[in-house]
Amino acid sequence: MKRVLVIGDGQLGLMLAEAAARLGLWLDRVSPEHCLLFHGTGRQGTALPHDWSAADYDIVTAEREHLPANALMARLAGHPGFGAHAAITTLADRRSQKALLDRLGIATADWCLVESQADIERFSRLHGGPVVVKSAQGGYDGRGQWRLDAARAAAAPAALYGRMIAERSVRFVRELSLVGARAADGSCVFYPLVENRHREGMLRFTLAPARAARGYQRRAEQMLRRIMDELGYTGVMAVELFEEDGKLLVNELAPRVHNSGHWSQDGTTLDQFELHLRALCDLPMPPPRTTGHTVMINLVGCAFDPAWLSVPHARLHWYGKEVRGGRKLGHINLQAPTLRALLARLAALAPLLDREHALAVEEASEGLRPPPTTVYPQRSQRAHILRSGAERVTG
Ligand SMILES: Nc1ncnc2c1ncn2[C@@H]1O[C@H](COP(=O)(O)OP(=O)(O)OP(=O)(O)O)[C@@H](O)[C@H]1O
Ligand SMILES: [Mg+2]
Repeated sequence: MKRVLVIGDGQLGLMLAEAAARLGLWLDRVSPEHCLLFHGTGRQGTALPHDWSAADYDIVTAEREHLPANALMARLAGHPGFGAHAAITTLADRRSQKALLDRLGIATADWCLVESQADIERFSRLHGGPVVVKSAQGGYDGRGQWRLDAARAAAAPAALYGRMIAERSVRFVRELSLVGARAADGSCVFYPLVENRHREGMLRFTLAPARAARGYQRRAEQMLRRIMDELGYTGVMAVELFEEDGKLLVNELAPRVHNSGHWSQDGTTLDQFELHLRALCDLPMPPPRTTGHTVMINLVGCAFDPAWLSVPHARLHWYGKEVRGGRKLGHINLQAPTLRALLARLAALAPLLDREHALAVEEASEGLRPPPTTVYPQRSQRAHILRSGAERVTG
């Protein structure tokens, strides 16, 4: 039985532990800041013993790319089973991540390094409006980001000069993402593209598969495969994309299981957590098959409500974290064989949620409905309609 160590004690590690239990793998999680060890899905961490050694683990992986610079991390970085460490270091910093994309010729929002207020002013003037200034390291869920124009450039934190980038503000039609996995032998499998909706920089829901995105699938797979090959990466990686003018632009990369892949737990034959472990442990990786349509709704800052469990087909994944405003505390996957059935299941769930989440469900339902098509009447009907004064029928 392979032994896996996950760096991080959040929900992604917890869901990796659930998948490991199914596969009969030994999996522990370690909090790199607090030096606490969690066995399997256990909630209670124990302090790392002084003689603790990571040599007992075959594989080391991480549930997040932002890792502290401390003695424990220095030891783990050199572990022979932590093959993705260099890739994580490259992608954890927006400067090296963007430079990698540029080097590979993969389209991404135009960007520049911000070393002074003047850089923001110049970049904003160049793009004729506000730009998105982002801290190079450590941001997540929209934290560490500022939308600034030349007049408000001074609002960026001066302490971060040299460690911030500015990006063109992309007027995207929608946000998509692709999650895929690469095995040690270089073979890759991918999920279908999904559509993601954010509010205040945080993912609120995912529609899977994304509607009318087949034309982008191959392109997105080529991009992600190229990146994983270049980094010699093994495991699951996600790429967040903007759709703009019929093109795909990379927003950012995540060298790990990803929130926009949570739908795969209940909407596919092989979820991203198990896929990640299979890739790392050299186990078979058949391409995941998608079953019907799935919506994943993030539960943010709300208390657990057992009423959610009364909705048939609603699969709750509650992380058991302390309830705090603005915190991702769980998610619900709703899956159905048809769009119609999925809309009915969403309608049953909405009244059981608070206003904020009910609105997200409403928005998700809107996103699933086919766009209204204009139906022009037959020639014979047209004469009658013209006589009666009607113009056209939309259905
Ligand atoms: N250049 C941009 N133009 C337009 N919108 C943007 C841009 N960059 C980011 N956004 C918006 O902000 C959201 C969060 O940005 P980004 O993904 O860079 O940050 P993050 O904090 O790393 O997010 P997370 O780690 O939660 O995915 C994006 O999903 C998008 O909605
Ligand atoms: Mg993001």
